[in-house]
Amino acid sequence: MHAFSVTRFTKFAGSNRDMDFKSAATIGLIVFLCSCKQQPENNTPLTDQSTNMNFNDPHSFARINEAVVKHLNWKATVDFNTKTISAEAEWTIEQQPGAEKIIFDTRDLTIEQVILNNEVPAIFQLKDTVAGQSFLGQALEISIVPSVKTVTIFYKTSPSAAALQWLNPEQTKDKKYPFLFTQSQAILCRTWIPTQDGPGVRFTFDATVKVPQGMLALMSAENPQQISADGMYHFKMEQPIPSYLMSMAAGDIAFKAVGKETGVYAEPSYVDACAEELSDMQAMLESAEKLYGKYQWGRYDVIVLPPSFPFGGMENPRITFATPTIIAGDKSLVALVAHELAHSWSGNLVTNATWNDFWLNEGFTVYFENRIMEAVYGKDYADMLKVLEYESLVETVNDFGKDSADTHLRLHLEGRDPDEGVSDIAYNKGAYFLRLLESKVGRETWDKFLNQYFSENAFRVMTTDAFIVYLNKNLIEPNKEKYAGLDINEWIFGPGIPANCPKIISVRFEQVDGEINKFNQGTPAAQLQTSNWSTHEWLRFIYQLPETISTDQMSALDNAFHFTGAGNAEIADAWYELAIKRNYKTAYTDMETFLCSVGRRKFLTPLYKAMVNTGQQDMAMRIYTKARPGYHYVAQNTMDELLGWQVK
Ligand code: BES
Ligand code: ZN
Repeated sequence: MHAFSVTRFTKFAGSNRDMDFKSAATIGLIVFLCSCKQQPENNTPLTDQSTNMNFNDPHSFARINEAVVKHLNWKATVDFNTKTISAEAEWTIEQQPGAEKIIFDTRDLTIEQVILNNEVPAIFQLKDTVAGQSFLGQALEISIVPSVKTVTIFYKTSPSAAALQWLNPEQTKDKKYPFLFTQSQAILCRTWIPTQDGPGVRFTFDATVKVPQGMLALMSAENPQQISADGMYHFKMEQPIPSYLMSMAAGDIAFKAVGKETGVYAEPSYVDACAEELSDMQAMLESAEKLYGKYQWGRYDVIVLPPSFPFGGMENPRITFATPTIIAGDKSLVALVAHELAHSWSGNLVTNATWNDFWLNEGFTVYFENRIMEAVYGKDYADMLKVLEYESLVETVNDFGKDSADTHLRLHLEGRDPDEGVSDIAYNKGAYFLRLLESKVGRETWDKFLNQYFSENAFRVMTTDAFIVYLNKNLIEPNKEKYAGLDINEWIFGPGIPANCPKIISVRFEQVDGEINKFNQGTPAAQLQTSNWSTHEWLRFIYQLPETISTDQMSALDNAFHFTGAGNAEIADAWYELAIKRNYKTAYTDMETFLCSVGRRKFLTPLYKAMVNTGQQDMAMRIYTKARPGYHYVAQNTMDELLGWQVK
């Protein structure tokens, strides 16, 4: 667990502007009298004004039915020397009659001053953290009166802010400039912006950001394509977004167009290769629009980040953040771009109301991703992805236990870090549930329904319960006979993989399985028919090798296919996991290099886990000690727990 100091202070902010001390003191008194240990309000239903949909967000202190943010004007200076951002967040707010305060989420921020309506210093209080839930940070309560339209918070981030990863030049490709990127999902935006940090609150924003000269800065907004002379950048985001989609990257970054509305940002020496790899982006965007309606966000660009980025991708609006491990040289890992692009509808347009409804973001996105892949690369290709998803889901359900409540689509994350909800359940069980719904009515009816779902709920939140109502009304009732006997509650509120889960057969994997059989029966590795295999066929091959495979057999495969040290991170990762399990030491040096150079959590977890499970904890600790400083907070957090690492 990440440790940070618990500060508690109340401050009459000093200012040379006029100040109504008397009313400020009165409000202050009320705040003091009411101050008690803060818990997220679970029992007050919060209301999304645009839909009248009730939901409680157990991961935000904000009480949005009293006072809610609408627009952010952010002015920030990024300081690579101190690894801090100093900023001014001017929030335009909307309050309901009777509201006495507005509550923001913060974590690890130093709040310097709060000003109301750009003139009156405010009374504010930073509450204690909640015992056992330090990941929520601290509520910032600001007293308001009915005339308050804007609240401006002056603050600094901490060098250990969880959302921010500060890279030194050696951690970048071109090694000339430092680099900074953010990762806000799920509840880390509050570590760099004081905000109402729940997916159910949307706002527009403007920003002015100063970075060192020579660097480009990018945000989830209209973006520059060239480095400015003075390091100043202005941003505008006119579509309202939730705070988990706020993002920023700064560094030595170049841009290259791919299509009319699509392009790639990356470090200068890499940008051509990235643009080449992602050259199908425009086709993906057009296919996505054909499927589920117009793209609502203007441009769609991707930034390929340095390798410590902890995820494969992050759907920051207008600018997907991506790991460089998708740049495989043969376009075989671009499904990730289809995935993040699909979020422009599922997630960014229609947004899960709370993290318990995460499957509405990710399950729909995996489904939609596959439809884009099918449209651009054909059914046989998309079928391979579906089968890999299924295999991975089975493994996840086995890990959790088939009766575990963590295998419900509708999650139970109250009191827990929402990061615990990130698993194949939301993603793959979610996608398979939608495939089941599709299979009953056929694609035409289903696609019509999804189109309508995205357009009627655009820029709104969705709870699982509201989705069920919507689904019943618009799809199940009108097609009653076809859905006869289907129990959707079993999928949504029940554990495991229901028996009616669609079965997918992949023709291309049947061929792979045939080759594995041959190998098992003694055909030398070099004689197997593997030409034209994509990454997915290789993954199938490695995953399906018998558990009893000998080190001699592994050696033979390695000699024929050069898995150890493979440039393709997916293949390398799958192979190293097997190598650890089978004690195939030949791969260990390259495995260690891999772990020290890549920070994508999906790759790290299985390798460290395999070391722990096979009694190679010492090796795990030795490698982790070396690699940990290069990992992002979210990867550190997971590995710390896995390895029992004590944070000093
Ligand atoms: N939004 C997620 C990443 C995420 C989820 C970050 C929850 C923090 C909390 C993103 O869209 C995603 O799913 N990324 C996957 C991509 C894959 C499924 C194609 C990843 O990073 O592996
Ligand atoms: Zn996703």
